[in-house]
Amino acid sequence: MMELRKKDPWEFRGDLVVCFVGEGDRKMAAIPGAVVRKALGQAWKAGDFAGKKGETFLLYPALLGTGEAELPRARRVLVVGLGKPEEKVAGRREQVRCAAGTAAVRAGALKARRVLVVLPAGVELAPEEIAECTAEGLLLANYRFDKYKKEDPDKQESVRVGKFLLHGGGLATASVRQGMEAGMSAAEAACSARDMANEPGNGWTPSSFADHARKLARRSGMKCRILDRSDMKKLGMGGILGVSQGSAQPPKLVILQYRTSKKKPTLMLVGKGLTFDSGGISLKPASGMEEMKYDMCGGAAVLAAMEAIGREKPAAWNVVALIPATENLGGSAAMKPGDIITHFGGTTSEIINTDAEGRLILADALAYGIKTYQPDMVIDLATLTGAVIIGLGHHRTGLLANDDTLAAGLLEAGELAGEPLWRLPLGPEYRKQLDSEVADIKNTGGRPAGTITAACYLQEFVGDVPWAHLDIAGTAWNFTEKSYMPKKGPSGIGPRTLLHFIRTTGAR
Ligand code: BES
Ligand code: MN
Ligand code: ZN
Repeated sequence: MMELRKKDPWEFRGDLVVCFVGEGDRKMAAIPGAVVRKALGQAWKAGDFAGKKGETFLLYPALLGTGEAELPRARRVLVVGLGKPEEKVAGRREQVRCAAGTAAVRAGALKARRVLVVLPAGVELAPEEIAECTAEGLLLANYRFDKYKKEDPDKQESVRVGKFLLHGGGLATASVRQGMEAGMSAAEAACSARDMANEPGNGWTPSSFADHARKLARRSGMKCRILDRSDMKKLGMGGILGVSQGSAQPPKLVILQYRTSKKKPTLMLVGKGLTFDSGGISLKPASGMEEMKYDMCGGAAVLAAMEAIGREKPAAWNVVALIPATENLGGSAAMKPGDIITHFGGTTSEIINTDAEGRLILADALAYGIKTYQPDMVIDLATLTGAVIIGLGHHRTGLLANDDTLAAGLLEAGELAGEPLWRLPLGPEYRKQLDSEVADIKNTGGRPAGTITAACYLQEFVGDVPWAHLDIAGTAWNFTEKSYMPKKGPSGIGPRTLLHFIRTTGAR
């Protein structure tokens, strides 16, 4: 899919060579070869290209004649604008990712199969970062999900690029290789999360999570445990059992363990794996309900992050991942409003709305995981509330945490990954909205601050362990429009932020 290439880019005989130019950079030093610079200069003078974000300039070298010595051998050259030089590192990284994404989109539309990309060496970033973000942008934008469609060449508007070759453009090869590999691994994780999410509810069930995790464990030497309904009954996991009651698909609690060293701290990841959320007896409206196959995006993000962890084998953290997986349907045995369930650990909960099911399955997974694995830190990801879309739209993930250091670390990681977060508060005044007359807690807190009260519910089960909750209901699909994100459908958000966090933080 992607390789380094050291030879002169103009010697490349493939379908397309891509170069990048910053806004206002009339010297175009990053473009190897005066002929192409000269041709681009014409477009610049005409006002057709100025290196702005999203701008592209396509050139057929053959049109430049045959006399020129340094004429590119590729069929086409594409110059992509990077935009204005950015002040902040996160902004520069995003600029590179977006420009690489634009390149991959254009390449796909041109039906280019082999593409050489010259890294934008002029950007004020470490060479590793330039390579990392270029690789990410290219691979994320090159993603397609077409396994359920007949191939029809007449209707095909674009193809997937078969191979990207990265040319360092003067940057140190070892750094470029290291960055490229990090970017490839992160993009692969995000695409894997997209693949899981794109599967329909009948193609990706709770058992799919279990099967996928077992295979991953075998491949990468991790430990895998799958708790099924009988285990859950023994352990008293009334939340996940209650939610799964109305469905014929057996629930699973998938547990994966990556261990590096006893001396290192343990990070626990938890992902909501609701493979279809009909709302249960508190049935959702029919319009748009098909999107609720994406209610497993938190679980997909965690499982995909574990894939990358299995590849990268980070030294700073032991990681344990838990994915409670079930459907939420309204079968004859389904949980009913008014029912009282007992979570792992004994906390009772009055069910007001069976559609507030995510918190119920997460509560069991959090309580069980913390008791069993005694993590030093906990991060959960869940498409938990429609309210977070009202608050933050589709542009930022909601972050709620009981620990400022962890929150700051995640805000930073998200920013650098191009998956920004925004922190919302927690507090006893919100928790009070969940007081029940008949049980320890109730599962909804009314309309006000729905995202916060949902997080308060989870907080009840984490105790004093540093914990952060990412509400990805607005960002897991139909995320902010940008070149390397699909306009519709799952974004694969989460794994890249987690990886960034894991790679750059350690024992503190
Ligand atoms: N999976 C949904 C949240 C959701 C809604 C995600 C829309 C993405 C788009 C969750 O299980 C849910 O239904 N939450 C309810 C909670 C309410 C009943 C307190 C919601 O947000 O409406
Ligand atoms: Mn629901
Ligand atoms: Zn849900």
